[in-house]
Amino acid sequence: SKEGFDHFMLKEIYQQPEAIRNTIERRLDETGRIQLNEINFTKAEINAIDKVYIVACGTAYHAGLVGKQVLKNALQVEVIADIGSEFRYSDPFIDQNTLVIIVSQSGETADTLASLREAKSKGARILSITNVVGSSIARESDHLLYTWAGPEIAVASTKAYTTQLVAFYLLGLYLGRLKETIADNTYQARLNELKSIAKSVEHVIENSIEPAKAIAEKIIDCNSLFYLGRGLDYYSALEASLKLKELSYIHAEAFAAGELKHGTIALIEAGTPVIVIATQSKTYDKTISNIKSVKARGAYVIGITTSDHKDIEQVCDKAIYIDNKQDIYMPIISVILPQLIAYYTSIFKGNDVDKPRNLAKSVTVE
Ligand code: M6R
Repeated sequence: SKEGFDHFMLKEIYQQPEAIRNTIERRLDETGRIQLNEINFTKAEINAIDKVYIVACGTAYHAGLVGKQVLKNALQVEVIADIGSEFRYSDPFIDQNTLVIIVSQSGETADTLASLREAKSKGARILSITNVVGSSIARESDHLLYTWAGPEIAVASTKAYTTQLVAFYLLGLYLGRLKETIADNTYQARLNELKSIAKSVEHVIENSIEPAKAIAEKIIDCNSLFYLGRGLDYYSALEASLKLKELSYIHAEAFAAGELKHGTIALIEAGTPVIVIATQSKTYDKTISNIKSVKARGAYVIGITTSDHKDIEQVCDKAIYIDNKQDIYMPIISVILPQLIAYYTSIFKGNDVDKPRNLAKSVTVE
């Protein structure tokens, strides 16, 4: 049931802190360290892995993009993220030293399952991150990491996404410790920060309701909208724009903020809404320059950043501040406001937010 919420999607957005807590806490042993029971690599086996592919579709792919960065840091090997429907036809280099990580909320997505089977037949080890116990993907994998999101009913994925991110953070810390590429003090510090994320998500949800409604009213009649970001913020922008497209039917595109000037900036007109996610310290200053160039073409710019970056107000029409966490964890925090923007834009337009047109919850055709 919707338990007092108007729609499943809103309920599921609000369930994120609990879903995140469940995904983490069930994995902590009595000493507070991460124990992943259905992942059985020996140290020798993990050392032998020389390449990782992450394969998924839609929102799960966006989680995979963040996961790529997490695992690159943790394992110090090449990690490639690919889309389920493309991976099989891209002649991937796979052998027994390749780890293929499959991400799927339902565990039944046809393109993703076909990728799993293809990779397995070439000798790869398969590790799956899924939300459905006993799903096809779960059954056919060598290693498993369940997200504890609980059933996700709304077609638009919210709590499955944020728990997939958590799964990657847990996996990175766990495998990094096994491989000894992450020092123990770094491990402890990152794990402590991860444990504090659910509380911040709670806070960000509360603080995002009013701004989300105001932005929804502002963008409701626009023909086209851009989400910009760099690095991890670009991946959040991809997820933000997918959410807005599937629910509001507004044409929304995500761009790596630095790439805009190579063509896409031609689309910016007076009043075009541009929502910029700017949380990553490495690229913050460059993102500010990118904002200035869209502003100069007349865009209406909304900046989403952390509270230590008040200077963003000088270049944006509207600034929204979110909780500040270690950069690697910001994708969990940054996605909340865009989820709510998509939700309110959809209901203000009178759309069926839980069952948007042309879409199914689980896509079982290739
Ligand atoms: O069940 P899966 O995670 O494999 O589903 C993948 C995509 O179909 C799914 O994430 C889709 O993109 C969502 N509707 C996005 O909100």
